[in-house]
Amino acid sequence: MPRDTEPGGEPRGPRHVAIIMDGNGRWAQARGRPRLFGHHAGARRVREVVEACPGLSIKYLTIFAFSTENWKRTQVEVAGLMKLFRRYITKETRALREKGVRVRFIGDRVRLDAKLTALMDRLERETEGNDLVHLTIALNYGSRDEVARATRRLAQDVADGRLSPDDVDEETLPKYLDTCVLPDPDLVIRTSGEARISNFLLWQSAYSEYEFIDTLWPDFTAAELARLCESYGARDRRFGAVKA
Ligand code: IPE
Ligand code: IPE
Ligand code: MG
Repeated sequence: MPRDTEPGGEPRGPRHVAIIMDGNGRWAQARGRPRLFGHHAGARRVREVVEACPGLSIKYLTIFAFSTENWKRTQVEVAGLMKLFRRYITKETRALREKGVRVRFIGDRVRLDAKLTALMDRLERETEGNDLVHLTIALNYGSRDEVARATRRLAQDVADGRLSPDDVDEETLPKYLDTCVLPDPDLVIRTSGEARISNFLLWQSAYSEYEFIDTLWPDFTAAELARLCESYGARDRRFGAVKA
């Protein structure tokens, strides 16, 4: 049931879902194909998942596409992924704009090539008037890197006299994170059976609910997302408090 129609205004479904899209390589391997074959299949899954969001009252969808640690992979895989990102953005820009999706990127752009960042900028610009679903793509994203970059800028503001050390609290730091305009994720899903976070949204997911599922990302469907949203609705989020 969509969360906004719950009696008493009690939200049931997750408003912000974040997904660690893992298992592309193993999916390809199982078919005797190169890892990039799995990445292409994985990219094709994104559209169905994004399109399922409005029906599930998911307003924010954040997906982990490439981590700051993924540069450790072979040059062939990294180059293939970068090419795939360029192709995906080029191919999907129009559909995303027309479907009411607002796209943002998080992560450090400095290490990405200029052709890719130009496409990222354009996609953000062309969808900035949309509000149906907010899709955030984490590309060259690592939570520790994000916190380090945030701290650097915060320290600069202190050095320049714009911020007093006494005013730094847990409301201040998130304003410097890449996710500053997003609510915290309610539900974090990781596919492929690995039960770890791999440097994804560490600060933001302090009180998120987690789902670690065995499905490999290229096999993930809207139906599975709907099932996970439903079981989220049955969870009791206490945030440290005791219910009266
Ligand atoms: C996730 O799939 C996509 C990226 C990390 C870019 P993997 O490539 O990690 O797939 P597995 O985990 O090796 O199966
Ligand atoms: C996390 O998956 C990063 C993405 C899904 C983009 P990895 O496959 O890189 O994580 P590890 O190496 O298994 O921790
Ligand atoms: Mg993996």
